[in-house]
Amino acid sequence: MLTFLSRGAAAALLALAALAPAHAADDATFIGLGGKPGIKIIVDHFVARVLADPRIKETFSESDMKHVGARLEEQFCALTGGPCVYGGEPMKETHGGLKITNAQFNALTEDLQMAMEEQGVPSSVQNKLIAKLAPMQREIVTK
Ligand code: HEM
Repeated sequence: MLTFLSRGAAAALLALAALAPAHAADDATFIGLGGKPGIKIIVDHFVARVLADPRIKETFSESDMKHVGARLEEQFCALTGGPCVYGGEPMKETHGGLKITNAQFNALTEDLQMAMEEQGVPSSVQNKLIAKLAPMQREIVTK
């Protein structure tokens, strides 16, 4: 009986050990961005760059950027394995009527990259976040 129990315990430990590295890897990008405080700083600088960027700033003239920033923080946190739930609108619904072009999408991505660079985020981590956002291009670009 004792042998049986300890085998069971050993199996449970092995299963946990197998899960642990996978979990650690899952939030590596979130950690690389500096967790929630790091993401907040990145989003603040990103939003400031977007609002100063002559290629895209007009698109945001009617928007509540405090709200957009808060949704971006949730979205980046959730996408990178952090403990957050995205509570905003689906990308297609939010952007559908805005007639966004590929050039505008690229401009915004560049602003995000520069905000991350400015905060010293390693380029491997920058690329992970950009790769998570890339599939959204087909939902956001409609022109
Ligand atoms: C990967 C690229 C992008 C991501 C992840 C993204 C994400 C978001 C998020 C999370 C919101 C808030 C949604 C909500 O209110 O529930 C939002 C809103 C908005 N986005 Fe994007 N966006 C992207 C690209 C763009 C681009 C390229 C433009 C235009 C140049 C743009 C223009 C806007 C505008 C104007 C709003 C506010 C809409 C409103 O006032 O209701 N977005 N975006």
